[in-house]
Amino acid sequence: MKVLVLHGPNLNLLGTREPAVYGRTTLGQVDGMLRDHARRRGHAVECRQSNHEGQLVDWLQAARREGFAGVVFNPGAFTHYSFALRDAVAAIALPVVEVHLSNVHGREEFRRHSVIAAVARGQISGFGPQSYLLGFDALTADSRRPTRRR
Ligand code: DQA
Repeated sequence: MKVLVLHGPNLNLLGTREPAVYGRTTLGQVDGMLRDHARRRGHAVECRQSNHEGQLVDWLQAARREGFAGVVFNPGAFTHYSFALRDAVAAIALPVVEVHLSNVHGREEFRRHSVIAAVARGQISGFGPQSYLLGFDALTADSRRPTRRR
């Protein structure tokens, strides 16, 4: 199974960005962990990062055409207000697992609401880089279930 991993805005700064919240692991290291994790399980993964909402919409729309079976998605701050990303997740006939490094429910009030969560297959939050691996496992374990259409 081929899985697309999308990282949203500011996640390119992982490693130096607010390390007390996000840790010291860089984005390159997260992607390396994901590639190893996927390979050991006989799957493939492609990781992309963008600071631009439209680019993330384009990648979500193209994911099925590009042969991906699902998406592990950390929308960053877009999580909390991007209806364009919410609509893109709802529009595509692929399961999307929302992941966050930090526990968004234990932080500032504005982070407690995700506009993506209702249309995602599920959400994993608070396990640092491990959130991505858990999201990957959830997606691959779930791959035989049809995507709910909304
Ligand atoms: C984040 C949480 C968001 O609230 C924040 O804006 C991010 C990172 C996380 O992975 O914990 O950029 O998605």
